Amino acid sequence: MRIALSTGGGDAPGLNAVIRAAVLSAVRRGWEVIGIKRGYAGLLGDDQCIPLTAESVRGIGHLGGTILRTTNRGNPFHYPVNHTDGTCDFIDRSDDLIQGAKDLGIDAIISIGGDGSLGIAQRLCDKGMKIIGVPKTIDNDVSGTVTTFGFDTAVNTAVDAIDKLHTTAESHDRVIVMEVMGRHAGFIALHSGLAGTADVILIPEIPYSVEKVCAKVMARHNAGRHFSICVVAEGACEQGTGPRMRGKSLPGEAPRLGGVAEEIAQKIQEQTGKECRSLILGHLQRGGQPTSYDRLLATRFGGAAVEAIEAEKWGYMVALQTPHIVCIPIKEVLKQPKRVELTHDTVRTARALGISFGD
Ligand code: F6P
Repeated sequence: MRIALSTGGGDAPGLNAVIRAAVLSAVRRGWEVIGIKRGYAGLLGDDQCIPLTAESVRGIGHLGGTILRTTNRGNPFHYPVNHTDGTCDFIDRSDDLIQGAKDLGIDAIISIGGDGSLGIAQRLCDKGMKIIGVPKTIDNDVSGTVTTFGFDTAVNTAVDAIDKLHTTAESHDRVIVMEVMGRHAGFIALHSGLAGTADVILIPEIPYSVEKVCAKVMARHNAGRHFSICVVAEGACEQGTGPRMRGKSLPGEAPRLGGVAEEIAQKIQEQTGKECRSLILGHLQRGGQPTSYDRLLATRFGGAAVEAIEAEKWGYMVALQTPHIVCIPIKEVLKQPKRVELTHDTVRTARALGISFGD
């Protein structure tokens, strides 16, 4: 048996732990493992495919990033072809990918990625490739799994930042608005805001009104709490508007979000007269060593993915359904993206504690 591993989309702390666990589990079964570099670029002649052995995954379980590297512009069905004049076309290279895998004698692929990568995995599966999915995203927005690895690390990074912001905000009687990742789902903002005792949490699932946010800030002010902390997901929208974009994306890349925190801080300052500051936590949330929770989850996913290959569960994704790791059809996962449920106990408890969602 010869299997291959691919990491696609934005990285997440824990990717290397998945790779390590899958490689060691496979090697112990007497299988060979190939690492496809930079998404599927290694199979498409734009990067390498490398042998992965017990030696090559030694000492990587605690490291962030991915030894295979990754890309969010590597969809084989919509593959970028850059021209020398700076323009870019997109072509379907899925047949080249399948041929590349055949040429290398690859029997099955473990695709580690978020919704986008899982969608690609499903399409490759429909074309006859033997694929197992492993869910990955710091945003925690993949359905069918209680959580994805990388999320806990990102939340910890955000909570650490909120703790630090508290002391400086309180010293200066300021309102500080911190923007965290979360394009469509507000899990990082909700969990870090609740754990870090923020006063306002704004998420894409609940459009906010600046007036409501200001009312919360002033209620605290009038009660003698002269500072406030607001955590906002990058994809949160003011009622009646869309998400804030920042910077220019490259062809094939999703629009870059950002800037909502700065806008909210300015509006709070204008409407309340209180001194406001904002920051974007950004890619710090994606970097660094995975927490022990994420290392363990990633390791379990890697081991389970190899078991799934053994059981020939093609087109399935490993998932955490506490307390077990299970296999579910990728098709089912893709039917409904995971979002914060507005009736979930985390939201109810946040409201009960007086946290404002700006609604
Ligand atoms: O998809 C995960 C994510 O963390 C999103 O929340 C964010 O919009 C995106 O990555 C940013 O990724 P990049 O800067 O790599 O395009």
